[in-house]
Amino acid sequence: MEKRKPRVSHVMPCSVNLLTATAGGKNDAMTATCMFISEEPPLLVVSVDKQSLTHEFIEETGEFTLNVASTNQVDLAKKLGATHGRKVDKFKSLGIGTEPGKTVKAPAIKGAFASIECKVITSFPVSRYTVYVAEAIDYAISEKVSPVAWHQDRYYKLTEEVR
Ligand SMILES: Cc1cc2nc3c(=O)[nH]c(=O)nc-3n(C[C@H](O)[C@H](O)[C@H](O)COP(=O)(O)O)c2cc1C
Repeated sequence: MEKRKPRVSHVMPCSVNLLTATAGGKNDAMTATCMFISEEPPLLVVSVDKQSLTHEFIEETGEFTLNVASTNQVDLAKKLGATHGRKVDKFKSLGIGTEPGKTVKAPAIKGAFASIECKVITSFPVSRYTVYVAEAIDYAISEKVSPVAWHQDRYYKLTEEVR
C-alpha cells in the first residue's frame, strides 16, 4: 500500500516564534511561524487565525513582537500553541518572563533567541486567517541560546552546518 503523504504544512521546515501582542493593557502570546519577504526594507509575513485573541490585539494596534523560540522554549511553544488567550492569561499561568518593547507595546519574551518588533504595513484575509505583512522596526538577539525549527510536527535543533 502506498505510504500516506504528510500534510503540506508538515513538509517544509518552519521557524517557531512566540508572537506577542498587547492591547488595552493586556498581553497575549501565541505560537506562529513566519517567513521573510524582503531584506531591505526588512519585511516579513505571518498569518494569524481570526479566532485568536492575538488577532484581535494586532487588529487593534497594528503591531506585534516575534520572539524567535530557542531550543529551551519548546514546551512553551507547545503550550502557547494549544491554549487561547480568551480563556486564560498565558503570561500568568505559564509564568512567562518579559521585557518591555522599545518601539511597540508588545513585550519581548525572556529566553528567546531573538525578539523582533514589528509594525503591520498591510494585511489581507485568506480563508480563516489574516495575512500580515510587517516591517521589522527593531530587534535584539541573544548570543546564549539557539533557535529551534519545526518540521513534520516535531521540533529540531539547528546544530550542524551542512557544506
Ligand atoms: C508550531 C506551531 C505553529 C503555529 N503557527 C500558527 C500560525 O502561523 N498562525 C496561527 O494562526 N496559528 C498558529 N499556531 C496555532 C496558535 O498558536 C494557536 O491557535 C493559539 O492557541 C492561539 O492563541 P490565542 O488565541 O491566545 O491568540 C501554531 C501552533 C504551533 C504549535
